Amino acid sequence: MARGSWATRTGFILAAAGSAVGLGNIWGFPTRVGQGGGAAFVAIYLGCILLICLPIMVGEFAIGRRTQLSPVRSFALLRPGTRWWVVGAVGVLAGGGILSFYCVIAGWTVAYAWFALTGRLAGEQLAAGAFFADFTSNGAASVGLALLVLVATAGVLLGGVRGGIERVTKAMMPVLVALLVLLAARAATLPGAAEGLAYYLRPDPSSLLDASVYNAALGQAFFSLSLGMGTMLTYGSYLSRQTGIAGAALWIVLLDTAIALLAGFIIFPAGFSLSGFDPGSSGPGLIFAVLPRLFATLPGGGLFGTAFFVLLALAALTSAISLMEVPVAHFIDAHGWSRTRAVITVTLGVFALAIPSALGNGAVPLLTSVPGVGMDFLTLMATAWNDFALPVGGFLTAVFIGWAWRVDRALEELVREQAWFPAPRAWGFLVRWVCPAAIGAIIVWTFASFI
Ligand code: PHE
Repeated sequence: MARGSWATRTGFILAAAGSAVGLGNIWGFPTRVGQGGGAAFVAIYLGCILLICLPIMVGEFAIGRRTQLSPVRSFALLRPGTRWWVVGAVGVLAGGGILSFYCVIAGWTVAYAWFALTGRLAGEQLAAGAFFADFTSNGAASVGLALLVLVATAGVLLGGVRGGIERVTKAMMPVLVALLVLLAARAATLPGAAEGLAYYLRPDPSSLLDASVYNAALGQAFFSLSLGMGTMLTYGSYLSRQTGIAGAALWIVLLDTAIALLAGFIIFPAGFSLSGFDPGSSGPGLIFAVLPRLFATLPGGGLFGTAFFVLLALAALTSAISLMEVPVAHFIDAHGWSRTRAVITVTLGVFALAIPSALGNGAVPLLTSVPGVGMDFLTLMATAWNDFALPVGGFLTAVFIGWAWRVDRALEELVREQAWFPAPRAWGFLVRWVCPAAIGAIIVWTFASFI
C-alpha cells in the first residue's frame, strides 16, 4: 500500500480520536475510578492528561510527521547508530499485548449488543452482575468472540486503513456523544444518584497519598489517549505539513477526556442507585453489570442497549485497528514483509495471547496464588501493559525529544508553515523536565511501595 495521507485536517482529528476513544473511555475509565477510590483518581487523571500526556502527544505527532516512518525506523532515522530504536520496539510489543486483552472485552460488547437486541438483558436475571458472571464463565464463547474481533480488525487492515477509519469515525462519534449525554441525564435522575455523584466528584484525601492510585491514573491516561507505544506517532506520519499539530492534539485530548468523564457520569449515579453496589469490587465487569440495569429503566431500553453496545463495539474496532497497525507497519517497514503476511502473523500471535484472558479467573491458578499478583489474567495484562509499558514508552519518548532529538528541532517541525503553537517554551520545559521526572517518580514510588 502506498503511503497515503489524511484527506483533511478533520479527517486526521477524527482518525486519531477514533484510536483514542474506545474501551479505555467507557469500560476502562469507570472501572479504574472504582478501583482507585473515586474522585481522587479523577483529579490525578486530569493532572496527568494536562501536564504529561498532552505534551507527549504533541511530541509523538512531531516525530511521526518529521520522519514519515513507523516507530522503530523513525527513532533510528532521527538518531542513527544509537539504541533509540528500542523505544519503537517497546511499542510494537505493547500493541500486541494490549490488543490481546482488548479483543476479549470488545468481544463482550458484541455479545451484549446481541443480548440487548434479543431482549435477554431485560428482567430479573440481571441481579447484581450474575448475568455477566454467568456469561463470562463460558470460556469458549469469550475465546470465539475475541477471535471474531481480531478477524474483523485484520480484515480492515488488509483492506486499506485510512478511508475506512475516517468514514466510520465521522458517523459514529456524534451519535455516541449524544447517546452518552442522554444516558447521563437519565442516570442523574435515578434514586441514589446523588451518592454516586459525590463518590465521583468529591475526592477522599487519603487516596491522594496512595502510589497505586497515581500509577493507575497515569497508565489509564496513556491508554486512553493511545500514547506511549507509537500509535499517535504512526498516525502523525500520515500527516501533511499543512496541518497544525497543537490545535489538532488539543481537540483530540478534549474529545477523549470529555467522553471518559461522561461515562463516569453514567456509571456512578446508575451504579449507586442499585442496592449493594460496590464500585471497587466489580473489576472488569463493572459496566456490563450496571448498564443493562440502566437501560431497563428506559422506555424502549432494548433499543438503547443495542445502539449503545453497537457503538461501543465500533469505537473498540477503530481503536483495535490502531493497535494492530503498529506491529503490522513495523513488520512491513523494517522487515520487508508483505501486508498480508504481517497481518496474519500478528493476528495469530495476538490470538494465542488472548486465550488466557478470555478464559478468565479460574484458568490461571498459578497467578492467583502469587502474592501481589492475585488478579485474573486479563487484569494482569491490563496492569502490566497500561500501567508500566505505556508510561515507560512515554518516559523514553519525552527523554528522546528533550535530550536526544532536542526541543528546538522538534519545535522547528511544530511551527512549520506558521502553525499555531501557543506556548513553545512551556512545551519544551514540560517535555524535557516535567514528563520524565513525573513519570519516573510515579513508577519508582509504585515499586517502592510494592516492596
Ligand atoms: N485508546 C484506546 C482506548 O481508549 C486504546 C488504545 C491504546 C489504542 C493504545 C491504541 C493504542 O480504547
